[in-house]
Amino acid sequence: MTVTKKSIHGEWSSRFAFVLAATGSAVGLGNIWKFPYITGEHGGGAFVFVYLLCVLLIGIPIMIAETMLGRRGRQSPINTMQTLAEEAGAGVNWHYLGWMGVIAGFLILSYYSVIAGWASAYVFKSLTGSFSADAMQVKALFDDFIASPLQLIFWHTLFMGATMFVVARGVQGGLEKAVRFLMPSLFVLLILMVGYAMSSGAYQQGLSFLFNPDFSKIDAASVLTAMGHAFFTLSLGMGAIMVYGSYLPKEVSISKTVFIIAGADTAVALLAGIAIFPIVFANNLEPSAGPGLIFQTLPIAFGSMGGGLIFGTLFFVLLVFAALSSSISLIEPAVAWLVENRGLSREQSCVWAGLVTWLLGLVTVFSFNIGADVKIFGHTMFNLLDYLTANLMLPIGGFFVAVFAGWIMQQRHSEDELQMHPPAAYKLWRFLVCYISPAAVFLVFLNVVGVL
Ligand code: TRP
Repeated sequence: MTVTKKSIHGEWSSRFAFVLAATGSAVGLGNIWKFPYITGEHGGGAFVFVYLLCVLLIGIPIMIAETMLGRRGRQSPINTMQTLAEEAGAGVNWHYLGWMGVIAGFLILSYYSVIAGWASAYVFKSLTGSFSADAMQVKALFDDFIASPLQLIFWHTLFMGATMFVVARGVQGGLEKAVRFLMPSLFVLLILMVGYAMSSGAYQQGLSFLFNPDFSKIDAASVLTAMGHAFFTLSLGMGAIMVYGSYLPKEVSISKTVFIIAGADTAVALLAGIAIFPIVFANNLEPSAGPGLIFQTLPIAFGSMGGGLIFGTLFFVLLVFAALSSSISLIEPAVAWLVENRGLSREQSCVWAGLVTWLLGLVTVFSFNIGADVKIFGHTMFNLLDYLTANLMLPIGGFFVAVFAGWIMQQRHSEDELQMHPPAAYKLWRFLVCYISPAAVFLVFLNVVGVL
């Protein structure tokens, strides 16, 4: 099979379009919802430090690798891996990497959509003035909300519908337009929130929680979660960036682009943390409150600031859009594959993929209410889904992306795709992707199973 020059699904109109789409994929609930709550659960600074280290040493090199594989393969991750393995004269099993990615995408989107549904519901809670309340009432508002399966299903359905609608419109029609204005607005609003946090009275305490590492607070499980989150937040390890890379024009510099995306993603996560933890401490809340953390803290801020009704509504609207631009990348690999291999139209593929994800999402819906007591290994179904995908499947996927890019693909092919200047930059990337990133993933796993 020859490597085709353009993807049959279309191409980004410019490098900027790719930056927007990939940043849209990276920046989402992972930054604003997940990062603060897992940081709270794992004790703060030391966890943040390990996460940043993972972004630098594992995330960025693998992101460059994954984008590069996509652009060279120019198809869905499953077929890209098959084509590239043939090109490299490697074994026939590499397309399983694409398969694992497609499955991980379904699993992640199934719970991602439920949480995005929470954010959608909060748009209306803000509009109707529910945030003018004290910390206790804001917590009760959240607890009552997630106790209702019907409400969660309603918002989950709405969000999945919106996602599939955007994906059905295709690369240029849907994906690009969705992010163009929303990303910058979200950034501005976060800065405003940080401004509010400064006046909350516990700004210093919040900052020191985030940036003063106390390594006695973390263990092997925390390190795994931090590494898993580096993959999750950069959308790595399941083919999302690979499929976006496959729509990338040939002349664009992959490495520069990746730095911009990873930088923006990290900035948003840190801003979210800086905005949220001062509110946590100023109101004597628990940093380890779990998945409800932002829903129990930010409304307090909106409730008491001037213009809070407008800002609160706007914030949750933007959060929903940030989630939307991420969720489309979770399902795009599956949709691209259905179009390529099953002869379905884009629309038909979206209906099927959407239905499957919607059904799976019910597992998460129920794990917050009527199924909250169903526990496997002491974890709720939602926790298990999150662990399986973010902590296991993504790092395993990323590990093999690194191994493929570093050891299987011919060096002249990766050199040709990446065109890095100066040559030392290419050498550094190659060293990281051949040795450091895979070894780090492996060591973290060994550490968790107790071998180290
Ligand atoms: N990165 C997104 C976030 O932080 C979530 C996401 C989108 C993702 N696409 C992905 C995670 C692919 C893993 C793999 O919210």
